[in-house]
Amino acid sequence: MSEEIAVVTGAASGVGAASARRLARGGAAVVVVDVDDDGGKRVADEVGGRFVHLDVGDPTAWSTFADDVAREGRLALAHLNAGILTASEDVPFLDTPVERSLALLRVNLDGVIFGVRALAPVMIDQDGGAIAVTASLAGLIPYAGDPVYTATKHGVVGFVRSVTGELRRAGVRLTAVCPGGIDTPMVAGERKARMDEHGARFLSPDDVAAAVEALLRSGDAGTIQYLEGGQSPRTIEPTLRP
Ligand code: NAI
Repeated sequence: MSEEIAVVTGAASGVGAASARRLARGGAAVVVVDVDDDGGKRVADEVGGRFVHLDVGDPTAWSTFADDVAREGRLALAHLNAGILTASEDVPFLDTPVERSLALLRVNLDGVIFGVRALAPVMIDQDGGAIAVTASLAGLIPYAGDPVYTATKHGVVGFVRSVTGELRRAGVRLTAVCPGGIDTPMVAGERKARMDEHGARFLSPDDVAAAVEALLRSGDAGTIQYLEGGQSPRTIEPTLRP
């Protein structure tokens, strides 16, 4: 039980891949979780970790996964990062297919709630641990380009703020990052061009991964951190103290 395990979701690409690289460099055995098998295996090979195909919106799959991880070693760190956007900014909310909105709720919100539900008990049964969540600037302010995405990220921030006290008392530090635009495949193409037009300064995936690594290693429970391109991370006090 001596090896430190780090689980990263959405680790086949973008922020998750950068986080997997950082946590592996820091000495953790990284479990790369994604639904993209090719990308996930590539990142797992690169970081000397293990790939697991897991749909983060599936609570049953989470429980099986948590049991497996608990048998493997000490689960010390988790970065719940998988997320999706509504397919296009050009489709108004009222014309968005219901299935797409349900998918966003499932991946972005269920993926965090059920991830914490499955992994925190494993950490509590071992030596405690830390979980960081990738929310978004859209978890703090309105984003008219994707109202359902914005709702999921506000939900994630509310969940983290609300459950952090219970987890802290049990030995798990839960934190979240709220980045502005990040240069990843998620915002490629038209969306990136539009953000460029508005003068957005993009973060790199590694900028976000660095903030997450610092929160996982030493962030206070309940910290919600806001990140914007070209600026240092800023901590936002939770409105309700844990
Ligand atoms: P990305 O598209 O490069 O990576 C997202 C990963 O999540 C992909 O590998 C994808 O296969 C995986 N994924 C999707 N559905 C999944 C599921 N059901 N189960 C497991 N994995 C699944 O995007 P990026 O930018 O790296 O996004 C990471 C996080 O950062 C997301 O939560 C996103 O909402 C958030 N974020 C992104 C911003 C940006 O501008 N790119 C800004 C603020 C937050």
